Amino acid sequence: MARFDNKVVFLTGGATGIGRATALAFAREGARVAVCDVAEAPAQETAKLITDAGGTALFIKTDVASWADVESSVKLTIAEFGGLDIAINNAGIEGSRDKATHDYDEATFRRVIDVNLTGVFLCMKAQLQAMRASKTQGAIVNTASFLGHFGVQYHLAYVTAKHGVMGMTRAAALEYARSGIRINAICPGFIETPMTAAHNEKDQQIMDRYYAAIPAKRVGQPEDIAKTILFLASEDAGYIYGQGLIADGGMSAM
Ligand SMILES: NC(=O)c1ccc[n+]([C@@H]2O[C@H](COP(=O)([O-])OP(=O)(O)OC[C@H]3O[C@@H](n4cnc5c(N)ncnc54)[C@H](O)[C@@H]3O)[C@@H](O)[C@H]2O)c1
Repeated sequence: MARFDNKVVFLTGGATGIGRATALAFAREGARVAVCDVAEAPAQETAKLITDAGGTALFIKTDVASWADVESSVKLTIAEFGGLDIAINNAGIEGSRDKATHDYDEATFRRVIDVNLTGVFLCMKAQLQAMRASKTQGAIVNTASFLGHFGVQYHLAYVTAKHGVMGMTRAAALEYARSGIRINAICPGFIETPMTAAHNEKDQQIMDRYYAAIPAKRVGQPEDIAKTILFLASEDAGYIYGQGLIADGGMSAM
């Protein structure tokens, strides 16, 4: 029997990076996975990778910043798979990473908050309604960041949103602990994904400096984070509530 046999996973941001690696990892361990994303073609590809390997997956086009989208995606997942056991709220965008606060664009700030923070709220709201209705003792893992614990310059909206995800994770974890629903966050360090790909030469130099400082002496891979997310969603983490688990190759231990 595989660890997630008979489990239904609702996962956002499953088109690329950490989300795709996590969707594949859950499917390998027996789960049926709803891959939710705004990016249609790559998210469909994730679902196809799962079904081609003999697993079960469904792509649902979802903008996590839209309540209508999120509510109907959760309903569709339940209609297709008969329940909802695990939710991974992972979709995210970067905003700008080279503007000081006095120069930070307002529309960019609002969009980052909409997707990275309000999106997690809307997802948890719909997921918790469903889990409560079916009395499911489920698990929710929100993707925050090590930047949900620490600041970094020129990345205001992102750092703000990820600190918000940590607050939301702790507050909601307390509300639902007695129902047996566990809510935690994963806080990745620097992980090699499309989000962290260098945009130009100056970016590459900055990235190289960050990477050189990682005590583990290697850049994190999406699979490193997928494994940690599966742990938090599993019964092995059955007494862990409201935590933000940092997986960063040791950066934050310095
Ligand atoms: N890569 C890192 O170093 C790192 C570090 C810490 C945290 N994170 C977080 O991990 C998560 C995944 O990021 P990644 O690095 O895999 O990057 P990524 O760009 O590969 O993945 C982000 C995914 O979110 C999707 N997405 C964006 N806006 C959306 C929306 N409105 N609705 C639904 N889906 C949407 C994208 O299409 C994409 O599939 C993000 O929340 C990110 O903030 C990443």
